[in-house]
This record gives sequence, structure tokens and C-alpha cells, in this order.
Amino acid sequence: MLSWASRTLVAAMSTMTRKPEVLFVLGGPGAGKGTVCGKIVKKYGYVHLSAGDLLREERAKPGSKFGELIESHIRNGTIVPVKITCSLLDRAMQNSEVSHNKYLIDGFPRNQDNLKGWTQDMAEKVDLKGVLFFDVSEEVCTKRCLGRGATSGRSDDNLESLKKRHHTYINDTMPIVDHYKKLGLVYTFNGEKSPGAVFKAVEQVLTKIGW
Ligand code: C5P
Ligand code: MG
Repeated sequence: MLSWASRTLVAAMSTMTRKPEVLFVLGGPGAGKGTVCGKIVKKYGYVHLSAGDLLREERAKPGSKFGELIESHIRNGTIVPVKITCSLLDRAMQNSEVSHNKYLIDGFPRNQDNLKGWTQDMAEKVDLKGVLFFDVSEEVCTKRCLGRGATSGRSDDNLESLKKRHHTYINDTMPIVDHYKKLGLVYTFNGEKSPGAVFKAVEQVLTKIGW
């Protein structure tokens, strides 16, 4: 029988050596990915890494050699090469000092290139617990983003960019969701419900996976 001190030490060591646990968060533009992640962070304190936010941050860095490339992809609703996005995610994970080891990766993987790069560079380093998928019609997504566009200052919350973003979502991102569905990893939510109702449903899944 281990003493209390030994058990505490073993528990602490297993937290240190355990792989980071990851949930991917996917859905169309304006599906509520960021909103739900914000609620999870507030209640549970897990780490929220938004690929889009990390790319926007990188774009804004003075002298960033990827700034123009990122801006052109964002405006056109196309997907930035995975080397850039994956290294931003990897760095952000390493820089987050947390004891719980739980990460929400929002807006990634968005296409085959994202998936391939992740599989090559990151998949072995983490424990993928599942994919939270928010299902919202194009009409509702567009309405929400145009509403957000009034104050977000984002160069892609306009009708022209939104059409392109939706095209990318249907053609490039849905096959990734389907890939994870086949692996039994996808939890689908009706993202058209109120933020509170969506969060309630998400909490049930978090409980189910032991988060
Ligand atoms: O997720 P979010 O709506 O913030 O993404 C905004 C844009 O950032 C996307 O339309 C895309 O141009 C870029 N992005 C990307 N690769 C990702 C996530 C976002 O290129 N994995
Ligand atoms: Mg977002």
C-alpha cells in the first residue's frame, strides 16, 4: 500500500508526464466556436487556442515574414499552409503553463493539408479526445458574422469573404469532420440554439470524456 505522500507524488508525476489532451473545435464561420470555448475557459480554466486568432496575431507582428501571406488567405477565406499554423499552435501549447493539460484547439484542422501536417508533427505528442462540431446553416453563420463585422474590425467579416469562407468550409473542412466521424470522435451540436443551451450540451460531453 502506497503512503499518502507517495500517492500524491505519483499523481503529480503522472500529470507532468501525461500527454496534453486535445479537443478540436470545428464549425462554419460564425458557428460559435469561440463563444463556446470562452465559456469552457471561464468555467474550467482549460486552454483555448484559436488557430484564426494565432494567425491574426502573427499577421500583426511587425516584420513578420508571413504577414502578407496570412492576410491574403484570411481575406480570401482560404487556408494558410499548415507549417505556419502548426508551429504557432505548437509554440502556444508549449508556452501555456498549466497543470491540467487540457487544450481546446479551435478552427483546426480545416483541410487535408492541416490534417496531414498535424499528423506528421503533432499527433504523436498529444492525446486527441474528440472533435466538438457546431452545426449551423450558412444563412445563420452569415448573419452572425455580418453582425460581428460591425465591431470586429476583421477583414473577412464581409459578404464577399464570407461566401469564400463558406465555400472552404463545405469543400475542405467538412471532409475533415467526416474523417473524424468515421473514427467515432465527433460530437455534433446544434449551434443555432442559444449560447447557454449549446454550452449545456457541451458540458455533458466534457463530463463523458472525463474533462
Ligand atoms: O477560425 P477563424 O474564423 O478565426 O479563421 C479565420 C481565417 O483564418 C480562416 O478563414 C482562414 O483564412 C484562416 N485560418 C487558416 N487555418 C486555420 C484556421 C484559420 O488558414 N486552421
Ligand atoms: Mg473564432
